[in-house]
Amino acid sequence: TVLDSWNNDGNFKMNGSKASIQTIVENLNSADLPSNVEVVLCPPAPYLGYTADLNKQKIISVGAQNCYIKESGAYTGEISPLEIKDVGADWVILGHSERRTILNESDEFVAEKVAFALEKGIKVILCIGESIDEKKAGKTLDVCKRELSAVIKSVSNDSWKDIVVAYEPIWAIGTGLAATSQDAQDIHSEIRSYLKSEIGEIADSVRILYGGSANGKNAPEFKDKPDVDGFLVGGASLKPEFVSIITSRQ
Ligand code: G3P
Repeated sequence: TVLDSWNNDGNFKMNGSKASIQTIVENLNSADLPSNVEVVLCPPAPYLGYTADLNKQKIISVGAQNCYIKESGAYTGEISPLEIKDVGADWVILGHSERRTILNESDEFVAEKVAFALEKGIKVILCIGESIDEKKAGKTLDVCKRELSAVIKSVSNDSWKDIVVAYEPIWAIGTGLAATSQDAQDIHSEIRSYLKSEIGEIADSVRILYGGSANGKNAPEFKDKPDVDGFLVGGASLKPEFVSIITSRQ
């Protein structure tokens, strides 16, 4: 399937200052961006409202990098989907491998977060992907299925209209070694088939992004791959070349 609306998202991770975020957003504000691409900027939580306020592009929304499973209360340090919404953001990244590994988030906890965020009206960028050892053991698809299956069990099939899946092989993140566009296409297509077997036809319209050392130079290689519906970008989203990624399918 070739979807009309691409999705290209910037995960700033724990990088940013008011000055650097202003530079990034102003650069995007002055860019000529295509209308059939949706872009989500995901700054560190303290800068969510600031980023939303600076943004002037209609196709750009703002997203958080994490959220919790409660509306409010005694949960020191956690972020509520209602707070995310209140400061002008509409999305949240959940299940990023850095949170699964460093913060020990389980598939079930990620799934609980996905269900809660959706219930509160926040759209989700759901990250999945295998480690180098899992890849070497031929377990790539198994890992992706396991991570997806927890979410499939926790949300209705219709909810997938508000979920973007980001396939991010851990070995490609921040290494400069992106998956080839053909390898990404192959696994994305298997992910879509699995989703289709579980949630039905709606899987055809779920956007599946590639993440892991995507940059302005390699992005155009992916543009004719029918199951690559955009990118989740880390390092390069902090640089002016993010614009080349956003426009790479034109
Ligand atoms: O979430 C995006 C990310 O993990 C990829 O990071 O720096 O390899 O583009 P990077």
